[in-house]
Amino acid sequence: MKNGTVHAAAAIYPGSFDPMTMGHLDVIERAAAIFPRITVAVVVNPQKREPLFTLEERKQMIVAATNHLGNVEVTDFRGLLANFVKLVGVGVIVKGLRVVSDFESEMSTALMNRSLSGVDTVFLPSDPRYSFISSSLVKEVFFLGGEIEHYVPDAVLQVMRAKRASLRPTERTEENRPS
Ligand code: PNS
Repeated sequence: MKNGTVHAAAAIYPGSFDPMTMGHLDVIERAAAIFPRITVAVVVNPQKREPLFTLEERKQMIVAATNHLGNVEVTDFRGLLANFVKLVGVGVIVKGLRVVSDFESEMSTALMNRSLSGVDTVFLPSDPRYSFISSSLVKEVFFLGGEIEHYVPDAVLQVMRAKRASLRPTERTEENRPS
């Protein structure tokens, strides 16, 4: 390989996306400018807790928010990410890093994924405008009555408003949602 040669590789951007935030969208847009193809892969069952949004809702929000990008597709996976990346044959895993604590957990995850699959992880530093935004904070702020339109794509805001309207009054705040 000559110095300066860049090998283009299809990339995968995995996550819970419960829901997608502006930080996620920023990473997708920047990754889509670097790699020829990005597969956004929504995990079916996030380990942390029961998702607020169904798998279809999470995928549809991403499709709607990324329809201006020609090289992004949205899919889902269950089980080990390492098995999925081997199955679909992508060359790179993309992850965003917001703060130092992200780095600590993502580093061991990246090394485990490389050990299991041979596929490396490329980290994109979060844009400082979005480094404090997380899906869980967005949900908490929204269900406690705060404004979140600067933190999520418009397609997500619409779905969140519909979700809040569909909940019974006693379920409408984060503190009342079952964990
Ligand atoms: O958006 P998140 O919740 O930070 O995404 C985490 C995700 C889905 C990328 C991670 O939990 C994952 O890869 N889950 C699949 C199960 C797996 O492969 N676990 C071993 C990781 S080394």
